Amino acid sequence: MSEAPTNQAYEYKDVKRILDLTILKIILAAANLQISDLFRGKETLTSDEIATLTKCNSNAMYRTLRALASIGIFKEVGNKVFEQTEVSRLLDTDHPSRMRDYVLMRGAQSEYMAFNKFEYSLKTGKSAFNEAHGVNWIEYLHNHKDEAYHFDRAMQMMTSTVTESLNTKASSLFNDSKNIIDVGGGNGTLALSLCKNESLAQLEKVTVFDLAEVVDRAKQNNSHEKLQFASGDFFGDIDVKADTYCLKSVCHDWGDEDCIKIFKSIRRSMEKQSANKEELRSKKIVIIEMGVPEDNEQHHVKFSDLLMMVFCDDGARERTPTEFQSILEKGGFELTNTIPLEVRNINAIEARPKVE
Ligand SMILES: C[S@@+](CC[C@H](N)C(=O)[O-])C[C@H]1O[C@@H](n2cnc3c(N)ncnc32)[C@H](O)[C@@H]1O
Repeated sequence: MSEAPTNQAYEYKDVKRILDLTILKIILAAANLQISDLFRGKETLTSDEIATLTKCNSNAMYRTLRALASIGIFKEVGNKVFEQTEVSRLLDTDHPSRMRDYVLMRGAQSEYMAFNKFEYSLKTGKSAFNEAHGVNWIEYLHNHKDEAYHFDRAMQMMTSTVTESLNTKASSLFNDSKNIIDVGGGNGTLALSLCKNESLAQLEKVTVFDLAEVVDRAKQNNSHEKLQFASGDFFGDIDVKADTYCLKSVCHDWGDEDCIKIFKSIRRSMEKQSANKEELRSKKIVIIEMGVPEDNEQHHVKFSDLLMMVFCDDGARERTPTEFQSILEKGGFELTNTIPLEVRNINAIEARPKVE
């Protein structure tokens, strides 16, 4: 007979995990209602005042704030009187962390609808998002500008936590780069940070390459004398002069066959610009991605992997270093260096074109 679970097991392991979903929904409501912004210029607010300003029920608002305060989001400092905390401030619309955008992105109805179909992905290995919405996430964002706005800003937050580490720990990968192209460069955060890296004095140009409408949005938010923009499709021709091709958080959106197609597009672009084998070999890809640890320990990347499976196109996944090596070879490249960035298990992987 199996042992009855202890109270401690109920209290911690299982219950806490079930509550995580509840907590996300409550934080989502606080972010949506912009409760944190209401504290601008005010030390404290009562739950009644917050309820009035957000057109909510007073009693429900008090109970919601009480629950949030119990996990450090706002603090009850008197009877139904609340103040901000370091954590609740993260939900400010203008907070540099862009945490509110991240919460709105992760809590979006479109993501829930996809996760409701998790078992579809489990049974088929295909994208639950595509099954739920009838289009992939790129087309979906094209038709839902509000979600696209929060996605861009959330990516900006996730990317800026990586750029500092990339520019210090892996700056050596760009020491000989004059023209960098950030393929699928999104909002331009990585490209701008490379432009500003003073140790890369030889750098002449960094180009953000992405779909036309993404590039249009990126142009509005970034400017630097070295920064340029080009729109196109990374499955087609990449007609931009470059010696270094960055791919950050792009490969995990795609299955192996699609990644190999992207690598082949990059290789074609490199070949077009190279007068001889030596010049071709001097060019490189720098992939910046999380690595799935090749052990059986608990790790957030193993869950991010499932997020990719559900959310992105068929076959999307996080990869182990060995899996990267294998698809790079099939795309005509050889892995030449891996530098751990020591943030969220992200590596900078350098690969050069294989030349016979
Ligand atoms: C997960 S985002 C990563 C953005 C950026 N590299 C970062 O880390 O912040 C993937 C990017 O790939 C772009 N993308 C998707 N399909 C593309 C295509 N066919 N050609 C060019 N860019 C594409 C998306 O628009 C998006 O900006």
